Amino acid sequence: MSMITDSRTLSAFVMLLTLPMMAIASESGYPLDEMEPDLHDKASLQRGAKTYLNYCMGCHSLQYQRYIRTADDLGIPHKLMLEHMIFDPDVRIGDLMENSMSIDNSRNWFGAAPPDLTLYTKLKGGPQYLYSYLRGFYEDSSRPFGVNNTVFENVGMPHVLVELQGSQRYVCSRVPKLTENGAKIRDHRTLQYVTEEKCGAELKAMGVNPLQHVEGTGTLTPEEYDQVVYDLSNFLYYTAEPIRLERQRIGVYVLLFLAFFYVFTYLLGREYTKEFH
Ligand code: HEC
Repeated sequence: MSMITDSRTLSAFVMLLTLPMMAIASESGYPLDEMEPDLHDKASLQRGAKTYLNYCMGCHSLQYQRYIRTADDLGIPHKLMLEHMIFDPDVRIGDLMENSMSIDNSRNWFGAAPPDLTLYTKLKGGPQYLYSYLRGFYEDSSRPFGVNNTVFENVGMPHVLVELQGSQRYVCSRVPKLTENGAKIRDHRTLQYVTEEKCGAELKAMGVNPLQHVEGTGTLTPEEYDQVVYDLSNFLYYTAEPIRLERQRIGVYVLLFLAFFYVFTYLLGREYTKEFH
């Protein structure tokens, strides 16, 4: 193998290893908020499903998922689901979770069609991206719905959870100026740290949230709102692969079986090759 192919293989390998790390920032370069989905937390998934059906289903379908599967996996009794979570009397529990908005209408109203969200957390940036997106709406009077989004600039979706979260403003802050090595700089006369103004993604990357909640707006506190969008992101993490927990459970048995089987294959192999030296 030549040197060139060698270094190419190596860099491809390194890229493959670092792929999960590269997904941390969104397309707009805005750092994402941390969230760790938990599929064992059935209560969280149930709350997420409820929020989804109340606030998102009008525009975004979940066309690869059935109501009955959601109810069974999340432990929601069918009757409860039909009475409190399905609003269209023609919809039966075995139906796919589709909606009736036509793509043409939505293009006219929003300038873009709301995508199906069943597989969303697998296709785009994971549940962390969705979580950051739902926390990322801020006031912007230049946009048709009066809001913009930190991770999805100029998004065509209104902030549908604004009654819960309230408004946010995108503000700049003064933060300590750092040297190239990351050390703070002190003014030798005043002994104060030297500061500089930072905005947006740069500010966020330093661990300071550039979004400020507007006092007196929204029915939930910021912590309660974070819980709502956590549950929602957790739920869409579930819909992207409903079999995930089962797959992991079976995977353990498969590996145990292979380990067990290996012993006998090895012994058999030794038996066969006993005569060759
Ligand atoms: C009033 C209709 C409407 C409602 C309700 C709505 N959305 Fe949207 N959503 C849209 C439209 C339209 C777009 C496409 C925007 C674009 O591409 O500019 C969109 C885009 C999105 C995207 C980004 C898709 C991408 O391309 O990356 C996500 C994520 C999303 N919506 C999640 C939600 C969630 C979660 C809810 C419920 C809390 C919700 N939406 C409720 C209309 C809606």
